[in-house]
Amino acid sequence: MRLMLAPMEGVIDHTMRELLTSLGGVDRCVTEFVRVSDRLLPPRVFRRLCPELDHGGTTASGVPVYVQILGGVPQVVAENAARAAELGAPGVDLNFGCPAKTVNRSDGGSIILRDPQRVHDITAAVRNAVPLHVPVTVKTRLGYDDKERFLDIARGIAAAGATELTIHARTKRHGYRPPAYWEDIAAAREAVSLPVIANGEIWNPQDALRCRQVSHCEDLMLGRGVLCRPDLPRLIAAMDRGESVASLHWPDIAPLLLRFFALQREHYDAGHAGNPLKQWLVYLRSYFPQASLLFARVKRLRDPDEIATLLTEHAAQTAPAQQSAA
Ligand SMILES: Cc1cc2nc3c(=O)[nH]c(=O)nc-3n(C[C@H](O)[C@H](O)[C@H](O)COP(=O)(O)O)c2cc1C
Repeated sequence: MRLMLAPMEGVIDHTMRELLTSLGGVDRCVTEFVRVSDRLLPPRVFRRLCPELDHGGTTASGVPVYVQILGGVPQVVAENAARAAELGAPGVDLNFGCPAKTVNRSDGGSIILRDPQRVHDITAAVRNAVPLHVPVTVKTRLGYDDKERFLDIARGIAAAGATELTIHARTKRHGYRPPAYWEDIAAAREAVSLPVIANGEIWNPQDALRCRQVSHCEDLMLGRGVLCRPDLPRLIAAMDRGESVASLHWPDIAPLLLRFFALQREHYDAGHAGNPLKQWLVYLRSYFPQASLLFARVKRLRDPDEIATLLTEHAAQTAPAQQSAA
């Protein structure tokens, strides 16, 4: 079984990838999408979204990072995909899932699913432009308004020569509302012979087990669940091997927050480094009640030094509790 960390625009950047892959269990990452419209983008755009390109295309823990491209014009998407490969991307991923209005209005993301032929043509153009040793993977939803043409879409992607297909088991219309229709992934698996990766609504190891049973997929992609519970990939991987590993508790998470904030300050404008931290706490609080308390304390702070002090104190206060509990 392989576990992929989902691309999440504005949430999982290279600092988050570094942190999450350091905890183990993740076999591959995908960047936030590089949006292309009518031209070949300069290398700096790719390097900004994927600084790992300058480090062998992997995170510090050695996990490969595929560069995701989103666009609607086959030739332009293909040229940009070739550039990503030239810059050292270990793989290129195509986004046919983004539901954002601004993106769909400019002919990118899930809107392309309305026309399975276009999905095929874009994928084929990219496959032709990217050297054969570089995988071209596709990430799709089940459709735009409905899933009527989903199998045509999947077959077109396979015929275009994609290496793998990740299916977020919802239409664009479904947005992010549960459930995810894992059974539709099983239908695609039957219809095509390329490896299929199941995605959507995996929040704990039991979900992973059920998703694999229903979708008939070996491999999974995990998104929001990992932000809520950073050791989710490690727990699922251990379950798959028939081993048990201890879950992370809040005293393990508190120092990660400090590390994340330090990475954010190192790479971005210090004034904005608090926002991603607050955003992560919002995810974490659905699993760790302590994250709610910390969020309440951090949410009004702007000064990065004050935030760092709070996080340092919090990590220190949390650590002894772990020792006494042990
Ligand atoms: C905030 C956010 C940003 C996302 N950004 C991307 C993206 O850039 N590219 C992409 O293919 N999917 C993106 N997705 C979709 C996720 O990769 C994933 O398919 C979806 O969240 C379902 O998986 P999950 O239930 O495990 O979160 C995004 C989802 C969210 C919630």
